[in-house]
Amino acid sequence: MLTFLLKSEEETYRFGSSLADKISAGDVITLSGQLGSGKTVLARGLIQTHLNSNEYIPSPTFNLVNIYDSKKPTIWHFDLYRLKNPIEIEELGLDEALADGVTLIEWPEKALEYIPNNVLNIKINTHRETNQRQIQLIESTLWFNRIKEFKFLFESL
Ligand SMILES: Nc1ncnc2c1ncn2[C@@H]1O[C@H](COP(=O)(O)OP(=O)(O)O)[C@@H](O)[C@H]1O
Ligand SMILES: [Mg+2]
Repeated sequence: MLTFLLKSEEETYRFGSSLADKISAGDVITLSGQLGSGKTVLARGLIQTHLNSNEYIPSPTFNLVNIYDSKKPTIWHFDLYRLKNPIEIEELGLDEALADGVTLIEWPEKALEYIPNNVLNIKINTHRETNQRQIQLIESTLWFNRIKEFKFLFESL
């Protein structure tokens, strides 16, 4: 596990950006943390940088998934907060996402039984007094070697 301190929205965005050239088809990244902790900001940094575009990346709050396929691999950005039943994640196209996309999932807790084991879980905690964010990267075995590079990457941010 690695932890980082992010002092501003900008830093959260940059953290996401820096992940963009580390991802490849089949990757699954889950984003955990309370409402307003910065999950969408981080995803936005990753997606905009991957697309190399200023296209606004909205939160998938109501549609539950947004798909970005203008550049491969396709990014599937899920927000499961409003999922009523875990099985609904199948109707949103999860299998297709996992098959050859990059899958980003806010609120994975809402459908845990459908989330694969080999994920990188990014956990965001808000520090009550300073309002800064502490980020924990909790890696599955598949990610164990990959996240070692991240340490150096983020130290240089
Ligand atoms: N490192 C940070 N320090 C302070 N505020 C932050 C930081 N990162 C994000 N924020 C703020 O937190 C909010 C996060 O919103 P959002 O990403 O939509 O949260 P979530 O998707 O987790 O519900 C934004 O208002 C943003 O300005
Ligand atoms: Mg969000």
